[in-house]
Amino acid sequence: MSKTKLIFALDVSSKQEALELIDELRDEVGAFKIGLQLFTSEGASFVGQLVESGLRLFLDVKFHDIPNTVAAAAVEVAKLGVWMFNIHAAGGPEMMKRTVGDVNSYCAKAGAPVPKILAVTVLTSIDGNMLKAAGVALEPRDLVVKYAMSASSCGLDGVIASPLETGMIRERLDGKEFLIVTPGVRPAFATNDDQKRVTTPKSAVMGGADFIVVGRPIRMAEDRADAARRIAREMTELSNSI
Ligand code: C5P
Repeated sequence: MSKTKLIFALDVSSKQEALELIDELRDEVGAFKIGLQLFTSEGASFVGQLVESGLRLFLDVKFHDIPNTVAAAAVEVAKLGVWMFNIHAAGGPEMMKRTVGDVNSYCAKAGAPVPKILAVTVLTSIDGNMLKAAGVALEPRDLVVKYAMSASSCGLDGVIASPLETGMIRERLDGKEFLIVTPGVRPAFATNDDQKRVTTPKSAVMGGADFIVVGRPIRMAEDRADAARRIAREMTELSNSI
């Protein structure tokens, strides 16, 4: 079912708003994403409650610190039972490997499910000039691919990448299994909001995305469940047409 590929971003500040959205959408999407806003306002115990209620959660916390600190925080995330979370590839190979190793050892010991660990590559808000100013000679898309390869060799399960980089990453992976989660997806019925590099659900999946993250086009719709169904349908039309 294509709706399992759809991750809805719970970009709200309170438990109450989040629960209302979950009620409306739990049968229409494959997973919910909790980002820094809701995580900061409602905390880890709320995440734990949602997991216990049977929700599949992507905790979008983008950890970036020294290896010891990130790995320790990642083990705490694993204790919550989330389906997926992320760390910055810019933290370096040692940070990524240590995180994967410590999470796997904890889950093996505790008999807990192993969360998928994704790498954040280059944020879409960062452009070539910003990289140059920081002394990085690469174009953003080349750095994204470089980070994706590094994440793959460090044992991570996948990356977050914009629609522009998905194809290049798939090419370089040469068939290796690796998840690509793509935000910045805009169906035909929605506006682009502040997303600069956008794509449709159909072209995101055709370009190699395993999951798409959608927030405002669903949250701001008059009928949210219907908006989610329309987005899922776009992906279904794709699989039927292959
Ligand atoms: O509302 P919208 O569909 O633009 O939401 C996209 C979600 O994906 C937001 O939660 C945003 O933080 C996240 N995201 C993004 N671009 C990235 C990484 C994450 O839009 N490069």
